[in-house]
Amino acid sequence: MQNIEDVQKDLLTKIAASDAPRELLKTPELKKLYGVIKDLPAEDRGAYGKNVNELRVKLEAAVLSRESELEDVNVEAIDVTAPWDANTGSLDLLPTEYGTQHPLTTELANVVDIFTRMGFEAFESRQIDDDEHMFGTLNFPENHPARDGYDTFRTEEGFIPPAHTSTMQNRILKDGKAKLEAGGQIAAVSYGRVFRNEDVDATHEHTFYQCEGVFVSRDATLGQMLGTLRSFFETYYGQKLKIKTQPAYFPFVEPGLEFAIEKPAALGGKSGEWLEMLGCGMIHPNVLSSAGIDPNEYRGFAWGGGIERLVMLKYGIEDLRYFESGKLQFLRKFA
Ligand code: DAH
Repeated sequence: MQNIEDVQKDLLTKIAASDAPRELLKTPELKKLYGVIKDLPAEDRGAYGKNVNELRVKLEAAVLSRESELEDVNVEAIDVTAPWDANTGSLDLLPTEYGTQHPLTTELANVVDIFTRMGFEAFESRQIDDDEHMFGTLNFPENHPARDGYDTFRTEEGFIPPAHTSTMQNRILKDGKAKLEAGGQIAAVSYGRVFRNEDVDATHEHTFYQCEGVFVSRDATLGQMLGTLRSFFETYYGQKLKIKTQPAYFPFVEPGLEFAIEKPAALGGKSGEWLEMLGCGMIHPNVLSSAGIDPNEYRGFAWGGGIERLVMLKYGIEDLRYFESGKLQFLRKFA
């Protein structure tokens, strides 16, 4: 019995420090303990066997606990978000291969940042909306042909993935009404993804990005609007620009205009080469009314345009489809 206790003490100490604890269950001393049973006087065998059994149970428990301790130490923390090389399975990628922000994400943030610094509050647009916001509150009469120009998708339930960021105008106006009443003004941009049921080609996508601006005060003017837009474009392209407008029809503005810039020589433009950048105008009285703003007291201007077009001009990108293509060769140029 004394022998059992000695072996137990000795093995428990060794197991607690061993890197291969299970091996210790094979030590000759332990085997000997089992071996002697048959040589014991019959009346002692029961008690002895019980003790040896208890010893086995204790040792097994000690081995298991040591094994789990070792696992904790040996398992390295795995960063499941780490990039890896699909060809070699290696986690040791160069920083340039980690992936980067999509150029549209970067440029959209840049656009929003410019307007924010000019005093515009920024709201992200929605990716699902209703007829009322997409058309109704924007002065598109029911069944008006102008609705067709937006090639809108519709869910079976009648929801619309918005075809323009103007879908946020009514909310911005309603939210801002209190500011007007407190003697202030509304100055906001809404930005985000928009969707149109278009045949895709080098200049058309079914999914693209827009940024919309809304400004309302007691005495907003078209001149202020042109100044705002000029400042934006000159900041974005980092140079002086020539601008021009021409009349255009959008149900939610009156007058409505298309705003163009002359393609800068630094970006490969020839003199007299005009690029239409966005739609804009003085907010239609019906649009103000539908947000509970009295058009006899307040006036506003609004504009909206695509982000891809801005970015394509800035970087000389010729095909709109690159943005959604997932082509690494294209994306890495922006790393
Ligand atoms: N929502 C128009 C479009 O997607 C662009 C636009 C034109 C927005 C005139 C405006 C605006 O706010 O005043 O084609």
